[in-house]
Amino acid sequence: MSAESPSSSVRIDLSGVASRAPVGIFDSGLGGLSVLRAVRAQMPGEALVYVADSRYAPYGERDDDFICDRTVAICKWLYQQGAKALVVACNTATAQSIALVRDTLPIPLVGVEPGIKPAALQSKTRVAGVLATQVTLRSARFQGLLERYAADCRFLCQPGHGLVQAVERCDVGSAELRALLRGYLEPMLDAGADTLVLGCTHYPFLDAAIRDIVGDRLTLIDTSIAIARQLERVLDQHGLRAASSGDAPVPPRFFSTGDGSHQQQLTATLLNLHATVDHVVIPSRRTATPDSQAA
Ligand code: DGL
Repeated sequence: MSAESPSSSVRIDLSGVASRAPVGIFDSGLGGLSVLRAVRAQMPGEALVYVADSRYAPYGERDDDFICDRTVAICKWLYQQGAKALVVACNTATAQSIALVRDTLPIPLVGVEPGIKPAALQSKTRVAGVLATQVTLRSARFQGLLERYAADCRFLCQPGHGLVQAVERCDVGSAELRALLRGYLEPMLDAGADTLVLGCTHYPFLDAAIRDIVGDRLTLIDTSIAIARQLERVLDQHGLRAASSGDAPVPPRFFSTGDGSHQQQLTATLLNLHATVDHVVIPSRRTATPDSQAA
């Protein structure tokens, strides 16, 4: 994924917004933690609030209206908590609803999208694989990326069915997961691919399992660092960067619409952050009652 550019037409009134306010980061589940990790490394002084909509993940199996509904509700919630800027750290949610969120909220917004441009720039064989959710791959935004940047590079687009679910249960290396990955990656290798776009923020957590299968035959494109840099630019543009205090980094606050136990586990094992995860109910039109499992 790469940082999705902010729209220049949005008018933002930031008077009175304190740079000490947190940045809100949201994903359908745990994948956005790969973006949070990059943001912390880039800007340790920023306070971060993370929401995983794990109760309703994976979004890649949902309809477009459901994804828009949840994305807008969660972004509004983060705004109400005082977020000064938002990162929609989910390719699927960005593909479906970034324009709607921009029209709804008066704060800067950074989305993510698969790194087609960097892949096309660096593939030598001119064959590259893309792993992303079905929703991302069939979206108009993704098709637009291919039209703009693929040039003479052939992209083999593979929906990563089952991969988000595996990360959501903290499975980043079981035999079943490796078999699933092998089924997706071997045809890419057979077709001569030398580059693999990780088009879902959950997938960077599978990098060790992917490496075990492809060795150094595929260059992995994970653009979480590019997203962190884009966020830094956007905060600078709006005078919203937290002043660096030289103190220890502010610990992020974590929320989940699910039970949060897997989030706590992944945060500890992969991010080395030992933090509590608070349960939160964020109702939306499609999930109006707290117990709704609307699909
Ligand atoms: N991390 C999300 C993405 O980048 C996963 C979407 C899903 O929940 O299916 O697309």
